[in-house]
Amino acid sequence: MDLFEYQAKQLFAEYGVPVPQGKVASTAAEARAIADEFAAAGKPRVVVKAQVKTGGRGKAGGVKVAEGPEDAQAKAEQILGMDIKGHTVHRVLVEEASDIAEEYYFSFLLDRANRTFLSICSAEGGMDIEEVAETNPDAVAKFPVDALTGAPASIAAEIVKAGKLPEAATEGATEVITKLWDAFVGKDATLVEVNPLILTKDGRVVALDGKVTLDENAEFRQDLESLTFAEEGDPLEVAAKAKGLNYVKLDGEVGIIGNGAGLVMSTLDVVAYAGEAHGGVKPANFLDIGGGASAEVMANGLDIILGDPSVKSVFVNVFGGITACDAVANGIVQALELLESRGDDVSKPLVVRLDGNNAELGREILTKRAHPAVRQVDTMDGAAAQAAELAAK
Ligand SMILES: Nc1ncnc2c1ncn2[C@@H]1O[C@H](COP(=O)(O)OP(=O)(O)O)[C@@H](O)[C@H]1O
Ligand SMILES: [Mg+2]
Repeated sequence: MDLFEYQAKQLFAEYGVPVPQGKVASTAAEARAIADEFAAAGKPRVVVKAQVKTGGRGKAGGVKVAEGPEDAQAKAEQILGMDIKGHTVHRVLVEEASDIAEEYYFSFLLDRANRTFLSICSAEGGMDIEEVAETNPDAVAKFPVDALTGAPASIAAEIVKAGKLPEAATEGATEVITKLWDAFVGKDATLVEVNPLILTKDGRVVALDGKVTLDENAEFRQDLESLTFAEEGDPLEVAAKAKGLNYVKLDGEVGIIGNGAGLVMSTLDVVAYAGEAHGGVKPANFLDIGGGASAEVMANGLDIILGDPSVKSVFVNVFGGITACDAVANGIVQALELLESRGDDVSKPLVVRLDGNNAELGREILTKRAHPAVRQVDTMDGAAAQAAELAAK
C-alpha cells in the first residue's frame, strides 16, 4: 500500500527525520488558511503540492511555489482537480518553502532478486534522477543492506560516501538515513524513497519529498486503516475489504466465488476461455473465500458479487478439503436465505460446482433445497461453460 507524500512525511517526523512543516487542504480556501498561519509565523513563501500516488508531480505542474496566502489559494485552485497520470488531485499539501542548496536522492527498498534490502543514494537527486540513472549510472550508488545489521551510523556513513554526498551534508544525511531505516523496519515498509533529500542553505539535511510503500501482509500489526481513504479504489473493493474479503474487481460479467487463491485463479482462466465461445464473456471478479467458507462468509461474498451491476451470472467453484462440500452447500443455502430475508435480489443464476471431500453429500443438499437460482454442474469446465452461456444471454 502506497502512502501520500504528506502521510510519508508524518511517518518520517515520527522517527525524527527533519521534514518541512506543512498541512493538508482539500479546498483552496483551506490552503489559504494554512498559508495564513505560515505568513503569521513569518514564513509567507509556501509550496502547494498535489497529493497523488504517482511521481513526476513537479513536472506535471502539481508542485507550485506561492508568495503568500492569496497566491497559495490561487495555486491550490489550479492544482486541485488536476489530473496527473490518471490520478485526480483531491488534496494539496501546503508547506513552508525550503531554501535549497542541493538536491540528493535516497531510498531503501526490498531487493527481491538478490534476497536482501538495498539502499540507493546519489548526490544528483531531484526531478531528473531517472535520467541520471540512465546516462550516468556511476552517480547512483546501490548499496545492499543486511536485514539483521540494518543501517546504523557506520553503515549509513558508508552509504553516504558511496552516493558521493558532499562533506557539508555527510553528518546530516547519515543521521537521516539511520532514522529512515528505523522507519522502514518499524512500519514494515518495502520502500522508503526521499527525492529530493536536500541540503538547505543553512546546512540542514531535510526530506523534501517522501514515497513510502507499506507491506499489506503486516496489517495485523500495523494500523493501515487510518491511512486509507474511502474515495480510493473501486467501491465494491472497498466494501469487500470492510468485510474482510479477498476480492478484486475485474471488468467481465461472470461473478466468481471459490475457495483457495489457486483454484480461483484457474477458475478465472477457465471462465475467460469458455467465454470466448459466448461473445467474449469474462470473469467479473476474483474472490477467494478461503478454507472456512462459512454461511456468513458465503453470504458476504454473494452480497458483494450480486451487488455488481455488470454481473450476469455467478460461478461458485468449491473444492472440498478440510471444509467439506456439505458444509459449503449448507453455507450456500443459508447465504441465499440470509440475503432473501434482507430483501436482496437473488435471481441472477448461480452455477455451483462442488468437488472433493463429501461432494455427493453437498450436491444432495443443494438438490433438495432446489433454489430456483441455483443449478449444479459436476465439472469445472462444464460449469464455466454454463456460467459463460448464462452471462451472455
Ligand atoms: N517545500 C519545498 N520547498 C522548496 N522547493 C520544493 C519544496 N517541495 C518541493 N520542492 C521542489 O519541487 C520539486 C518537486 O517536488 P517533489 O516533492 O519531489 O515532487 P515530484 O517528485 O512528484 O515531482 C523538488 O525537487 C523541489 O525542487
Ligand atoms: Mg520527488
